[in-house]
Amino acid sequence: MFNYHTLYAELLSSLHGSPLEKWLPLLPEQINQGLCEQRFGDLADWRQVLQQLPEVSANKIELKDKIQIDGDSSDNTRAQIKNLLQALIPWRKGPFFIHGTHIDTEWRSDWKWDRVLPHLAPLENRTILDVGCGSGYHCWRMLGEGASRIIGIDPSPRFVVQFYAVKHFIQGGYHGVPPVDVLPIGIEAVPQNLQAFDTTFSMGVFYHRRAPMDHLRELKATLRQGGQLVLETLLIEGGLGEVLVPEGRYAKMNNVWFLPTADTMISWMRKCGFKNPRLVDSATTTLQEQRQTEWMTYHSLEQFLDPADHRKTIEGHPAPLRGVFVAEV
Ligand SMILES: C[S@@+](CC[C@H](N)C(=O)[O-])C[C@H]1O[C@@H](n2cnc3c(N)ncnc32)[C@H](O)[C@@H]1O
Repeated sequence: MFNYHTLYAELLSSLHGSPLEKWLPLLPEQINQGLCEQRFGDLADWRQVLQQLPEVSANKIELKDKIQIDGDSSDNTRAQIKNLLQALIPWRKGPFFIHGTHIDTEWRSDWKWDRVLPHLAPLENRTILDVGCGSGYHCWRMLGEGASRIIGIDPSPRFVVQFYAVKHFIQGGYHGVPPVDVLPIGIEAVPQNLQAFDTTFSMGVFYHRRAPMDHLRELKATLRQGGQLVLETLLIEGGLGEVLVPEGRYAKMNNVWFLPTADTMISWMRKCGFKNPRLVDSATTTLQEQRQTEWMTYHSLEQFLDPADHRKTIEGHPAPLRGVFVAEV
């Protein structure tokens, strides 16, 4: 029987004696709960996909400018890889290029990365937490920037399995085990006051949190003194103190709570103890950045906007505008 703990063996042993050691005793049970096949009906099927992934060595691993893995695999193996990766559809965050398969994800997550990266303290040798990392796309890009240890967390087991499918192929061309993992947990399961990470990312999570100040405070508590927070979230235009709390859905999502203006967000970050919070980028999401593809066939941004006026969501709210904030502790 496949044991999910084998996925995490390298991570767990690396934590001994590290500033994250305090997390260690909790992790086995958190992994059991987050990847429990009795709780998540489809997980057994996805696990079988992981078990069937062929062992292929890679002689080309690119993580800095894009995520591409390639080698001398046969046409048969390439077709098998494509089929297995398709069994994990929908793929939302990417793209990935794996042994000839282009996983054309719903989101061009590389475009977000291009907007975020120029504003960060260099990631080289940093220990990083990526909260709500999805398939772990940005975690790999962080490794491409030279980070020494990256821990993503995401409570959705499908995305965790997608991550380990990608890791399987990256490992085929890596010396040792890449120091990147995704834990099947939400931010609320991270031990309080770890104060251990050099950089913590929270991208696309803030608006899903019902208690925004608590989210900011829990993010702050993950960081060591002098560490950096990178927060990306939905915004509205307007002045200090303004915030949209959509009644009902926002862009068809039923779990959207707080959409502040940039000035409001900065004042919340300052109130929660962050130093020098600043908006470093804002961009309206385009139909080229978030769209239906053959790897994500459900509705996407086009169906979430007012067909007569793309400046509004289908519910009449301002269309998605995303801001990137950076601050230190
Ligand atoms: C919009 S996606 C963002 C993915 C990625 N960070 C990005 O920016 O492209 C939000 C992710 O947050 C995850 N999520 C939801 N609630 C969470 C929580 N309480 N803690 C951590 N992640 C959460 C979801 O499963 C989802 O993968």
